[in-house]
Amino acid sequence: MGTLAFAVTGGAKIYDSPSGPITAFRDLDLEVARGEVVSLLGPSGCGKSTLLRIVAGLDHLSEGELDVPKRPDGRAAAGIVFQDAHLLPWLDVRENVGLGLRYRANRGIGSSEVDRLLEVLGLAALADAMPRELSGGQAQRVAIARTIVTAPPLLLLDEPFAALDPLTRRTLQDWLRDIRSLLDLTVVLVTHDVDEALHLGDRVALLRGGDRGITATWDVAELDRDDAALGDARRELLDRYATDPLAQIDGLVA
Ligand SMILES: Nc1ncnc2c1ncn2[C@@H]1O[C@H](COP(=O)(O)OP(=O)(O)O)[C@@H](O)[C@H]1O
Ligand SMILES: [Mg+2]
Repeated sequence: MGTLAFAVTGGAKIYDSPSGPITAFRDLDLEVARGEVVSLLGPSGCGKSTLLRIVAGLDHLSEGELDVPKRPDGRAAAGIVFQDAHLLPWLDVRENVGLGLRYRANRGIGSSEVDRLLEVLGLAALADAMPRELSGGQAQRVAIARTIVTAPPLLLLDEPFAALDPLTRRTLQDWLRDIRSLLDLTVVLVTHDVDEALHLGDRVALLRGGDRGITATWDVAELDRDDAALGDARRELLDRYATDPLAQIDGLVA
């Protein structure tokens, strides 16, 4: 494994709630190397979003350790993109993407960087468009661009394509694959879609949640689309995840 992007060791997150403590996950170990794309799968409520928020520094582990190399200038090490684009409706695409640069810590990045990035991401034609003129898929690309412009060492995507129709979703998956190699991104992609996880990830990790952490991972980086091993991984994932997530995953320990 190359240089570490981040590592969680023995991580647990326990929320306080009026009805008592809620354990999102426990005994969670995950190491992600720089330049790697890890797909994170798991049933609803298993703590996927919680884990991303913690890695992004928006929340803290209750137990265990998170090791994220800090940027020397204090900028956030990770950028998060959610299911909804949350663009500011009164700003055009260029201005929305440039928003990340307004923060003091990011002032070193020139605004020509925004246009260059829009070009690289295939969004240049939309630079002057307003959010209301964008399709769902376009808006989501802009949301990802807005995060990438700050050059985060780590890009955390929380079900970024979940709200899109299947065709748009497919286009954006291919787009993400392309820009990932162009920009040498390190990505954690949360998804419910087994095929998306396999298509985009170098590794697929299954999070069980509750009193468990990550219970299995598949290394699929070297597998071609028509590789039999990819079919095997897909069948295993579908068997253990899609049909009856909690019961099935329980029996699966990597
Ligand atoms: N702020 C919070 N306070 C209390 N419980 C929370 C909070 N956020 C999440 N949880 C609980 O933690 C668990 C994991 O939630 P979440 O990370 O959103 O799961 P996922 O993204 O995998 O669906 C759930 O049981 C959820 O109800
Ligand atoms: Mg979630």
